[in-house]
Amino acid sequence: MRIARTGVELRETLQAERISGRTIGFVPTMGALHEGHLSLVRLARAKDEAVVVSVFVNPLQFGQAEDLEAYPRDPERDFELLEGEGTDVAFLPSVDEMYPAGDCTTISVGRPLGRVLEGHDRPGHFDGVCTVVAKLFNLVEPDHAFFGQKDAQQVAVIRRMVHDLKFPIDVVVGPTVRDPDGLALSSRNCFLSPEDRTKALALSRALNAGAAELSAGGAVEVVEKVMWDLLAAGEGVEPSYARVVDRHSFEVPEGDTGMVLVVAARVGGVRLIDNVEVKS
Ligand code: PAJ
Repeated sequence: MRIARTGVELRETLQAERISGRTIGFVPTMGALHEGHLSLVRLARAKDEAVVVSVFVNPLQFGQAEDLEAYPRDPERDFELLEGEGTDVAFLPSVDEMYPAGDCTTISVGRPLGRVLEGHDRPGHFDGVCTVVAKLFNLVEPDHAFFGQKDAQQVAVIRRMVHDLKFPIDVVVGPTVRDPDGLALSSRNCFLSPEDRTKALALSRALNAGAAELSAGGAVEVVEKVMWDLLAAGEGVEPSYARVVDRHSFEVPEGDTGMVLVVAARVGGVRLIDNVEVKS
């Protein structure tokens, strides 16, 4: 595995791949890698001839009161895991490399997609995600970019950016990887105490109950109430939202383009999100 720390190094490293006509699969991450991330690397490995993974904790997508400083970092372990998955190139840029002083151009994700739910609770979050992902896309120039269904609204926002800004890149989405008891893997799960980890199962329970209600013919409002009530009943769980939305627009579902059940809650001070897609 080769390591690039600057855009220039990355371009030089990837030039050889391009000259030999290999397709490039790209997995952007913020590190503290777990099976969810690695499942995307494996998808990329299966689809593309060269795999590039970035590890960059992107300050622009963290709000003032959020956990940028505390966000878990373990570059050596990440490095070993990526090497073990047959990654060709790991891109590990510094903050200065991605955001040189004086850098002032950002991407603004419009309403409603970028401003509802996660976009509402975390103002500026998706602008930060899109700004860094656009920079990374320009540096890596991948054929395919791999994202996890775990962050369903991020997937919708990235798809929209790729469409609107005409990036010649296919977005591929991998399923959410969960622990056997249903908890979706997340780099932030390491902040949960064993008791809080048990309480956090309220999220997947609420989603399962909501999906069952929906498939039994329940109306959207009823499904949302079922999910909210289950979250609110969980001791030490502070729900933020429990909604049924269109999987592309994240607005009230209309027609049959596919729905997603989305929940967010704080457990022991840790903000967690989860979702399930419902094919109609
Ligand atoms: P991060 O949270 O590190 O996640 C990187 C990728 O892994 C994302 O596409 C995310 O959806 C996916 N992922 C996380 N947990 C998963 C799980 N349990 N199952 C499947 N996939 C999972 O998302 C980000 O970083 C950043 O916003 C980023 C896109 C890198 C931009 O900074």
